[in-house]
Amino acid sequence: MKGDESMKPKVYIAEPIPKAVEEYITQHCEYEKWQGEGKIPKEVLLEKIRDKDGLLNFGSKIDGTLLEAAPNLKVVSNISVGYDNFDIEALKARNIIGTNTPYVLDDTVADLIFGLMLSAARRICELDSYVKTGQWDREISKEHFGLDVHHATLGIIGMGRIGEAVAKRAKFGFDMDILYYNRNRKKDAEAAYGAVYGSLHEVLQKSDFIVLMTPLTNETYHLIGEREFDLMKETAVFINASRGQTVDEQALITALQERKIYAAGIDTYEKEPIDISNPLLQLKNVVTLPHIGSATLKTRCNMAMTAAKNLVTALSGEIPPHIVKELK
Ligand code: DGY
Repeated sequence: MKGDESMKPKVYIAEPIPKAVEEYITQHCEYEKWQGEGKIPKEVLLEKIRDKDGLLNFGSKIDGTLLEAAPNLKVVSNISVGYDNFDIEALKARNIIGTNTPYVLDDTVADLIFGLMLSAARRICELDSYVKTGQWDREISKEHFGLDVHHATLGIIGMGRIGEAVAKRAKFGFDMDILYYNRNRKKDAEAAYGAVYGSLHEVLQKSDFIVLMTPLTNETYHLIGEREFDLMKETAVFINASRGQTVDEQALITALQERKIYAAGIDTYEKEPIDISNPLLQLKNVVTLPHIGSATLKTRCNMAMTAAKNLVTALSGEIPPHIVKELK
């Protein structure tokens, strides 16, 4: 693809990416990129994609309307491991390749999950604000105490690569007992981390910490709702760093308000960015983050480079390393 500029495939970069990644793309493709504030508006993307062969994307919905507007499109490369933004049937119907960025973010997301577990259990954000707002005027007492993470029972729902990275930290860093629920049993994780397989019901009932890590699919939409919160211990800490729609957010709010569970640590929401009026933001027993699971400088750079390599490989007529499984 090097050499004659006119022979280079045309791509659109819909998300800011590091310079090194842009330079890599320049060697192989002609490109235009989104340089506006915030997320690219749909109508701009529809216009820009018209003559492009490839799209480097972060979260924009890839549906029939977009694909109709892009007759030359051959590949959509997500800078994310999640690909619930893909309309799989629409991509299949047009024979368009869809790729994602697995592996490079597993440890980073697992670190954040532990951050949420520790913050929610030890009330780190709440008590940080207590100090900063001048309320610390006497020795702390029982009303400030939290829960232990070490030696507690961790329930992992969705034992994929990130689930396993969480299990590793739990087992070897925090001496936790691990239960898990997954579509298939993971014998390797059982052997490596002593993880014990159980039904969703069992995992919810027996765990002190419940970490939800399933991808968003038709089957996992609102996987955790009122019935599931009712099964959890009153001392349970619930963590969601997968996708907001895997949880019925109203049921989560009720569970926290009515103290059906002890606390939650949340990185993903049904609507992102979350509305400031969302009652979740009024609660002390929830730690709320703005979907930063993979957001470290190094990991986001690695994700962008992985996505760029998927894009360039597909456009050179070869099979990219990370085609999403439904499109293989
Ligand atoms: C992913 O890669 O799917 C993450 O959620 C993006 O932060």
